[in-house]
Amino acid sequence: MRNITIIGAGYVGLVTGVGLAEFGNKVICVDIDKDKISQLKSGLIPIYEPGLEEIIKRNVKSERLYFSDDISLSIQKSQVIIIAVGTPQTSEGDANMEYVNSVVRAINKNLKDYKIICTKSTVPIGTGGRIIKTLSNDFEEGIDFDYVSNPEFLREGSAVKDFLWPDRIIIGTTSDKAYEIMCDIYKPLYINKNPIKHTTVETAEMIKYASNSFLALKISYINEIANLCETVGADIHDVASAMGQDGRISDKFLHPGPGFGGSCFPKDLESLIAISKEKNIPMETLSAAKKANINQKAKMGTKLENLINASLKGKKIAVLGLSFKANTDDVRESSSIDMIEFILSKGGIVSAYDPIANVSMLKLFKNISYFDNVYDAIKGADALVVMTEWNEFRALDLPRIKNIMKNAFILDTRNIINMSELSKLGFVYDNIGRIKI
Ligand SMILES: NC(=O)c1ccc[n+]([C@@H]2O[C@H](COP(=O)([O-])OP(=O)(O)OC[C@H]3O[C@@H](n4cnc5c(N)ncnc54)[C@H](O)[C@@H]3O)[C@@H](O)[C@H]2O)c1
Repeated sequence: MRNITIIGAGYVGLVTGVGLAEFGNKVICVDIDKDKISQLKSGLIPIYEPGLEEIIKRNVKSERLYFSDDISLSIQKSQVIIIAVGTPQTSEGDANMEYVNSVVRAINKNLKDYKIICTKSTVPIGTGGRIIKTLSNDFEEGIDFDYVSNPEFLREGSAVKDFLWPDRIIIGTTSDKAYEIMCDIYKPLYINKNPIKHTTVETAEMIKYASNSFLALKISYINEIANLCETVGADIHDVASAMGQDGRISDKFLHPGPGFGGSCFPKDLESLIAISKEKNIPMETLSAAKKANINQKAKMGTKLENLINASLKGKKIAVLGLSFKANTDDVRESSSIDMIEFILSKGGIVSAYDPIANVSMLKLFKNISYFDNVYDAIKGADALVVMTEWNEFRALDLPRIKNIMKNAFILDTRNIINMSELSKLGFVYDNIGRIKI
């Protein structure tokens, strides 16, 4: 059992905190957002993530998980300090390091005995080296620390499961002592099988960027193949499933859609592009993946206009799904944002529905209507657009929808609605790369 402080109680910090508590450690999750911490202390979970509430409550009850807004005290109480604050994109495309830097300053002030400083935030390659330098320069004589890069690979929507049963854990450090302590905090995983990989700090930082950028690239690739399918009469569903049967390719991330979003892929791809430019090592594949994604998001608006074959001015469009993927309330970089902006820019009216993410989207768009029920959002609509692959949208009552819509146009950007049923009911529909029935 180790005493651990996680700094930053967002999607990654909270899940990491409760996961490490579940592994038997004593964990304090700290955040500068006092409201967030008081919510957590009173048992309210500030984000939606399947299974999170239950596991947090269990670990709080077992006195393994605590919440605090006192960063200094929490650092002093713990041997392992994990940085999990945000690293959003700057307007230049590189990662904004202001939150990480401010945490490093806080750590610096509170180092009184040996600590492991571990970065879980996704940070540009070379960040670890800079943190080591900063801390070493200011370090009081006789106090020791080790640095670890431990990037996180959890996926929003299945974050708890991903953390508790990871494919791999990367521990980037040059210190044997730190490596052993880090293995210890992940001990239950270590006992069953060994998903732990020991690397240098820079290699660990690179693994994270290389992995996310590869997945982004794979999505952009299948989206472009889907677009081509539409013009050559091929069906992306069959193409992707046959491609996926090839073990070298795998069937993961071969689902075409409205372009990738979320808090990771767009910014990590952008950040790796910025690093490659800075190092003067052009990475054309990454720039192409980014451009393809921008095009894909824009293409969804064009598809909608082509589908209804009329101006969107004054038309009521039901947008189903606001989060960037199913099972999360996160709308960061969601393709729904582009779709809503497009409809509004053309003078259309948006009625939006998401089972979880209405509240998050309301912060970005105050001028659209939000509904608590999918059928209320659809009622009287001129067209319906499915933007997120929520299970609920796979089982829509299509005859009912046909009755309540003004015009029977459906754009399914996730390919989740049964085409033969749509066609039987007389809908005019479009999707991504399918042969229409
Ligand atoms: N969200 C994901 O799916 C995911 C997956 C893997 C890695 N990551 C990476 O993990 C990092 C965190 O991402 P996230 O989605 O959890 O971010 P987030 O925005 O949900 O959470 C960040 C938290 O840090 C807090 N914070 C900011 N500055 C602070 C400070 N000085 N002291 C204490 N708390 C502070 C914020 O208040 C916020 O609660 C990012 O680098 C991200 O790229 C995210």
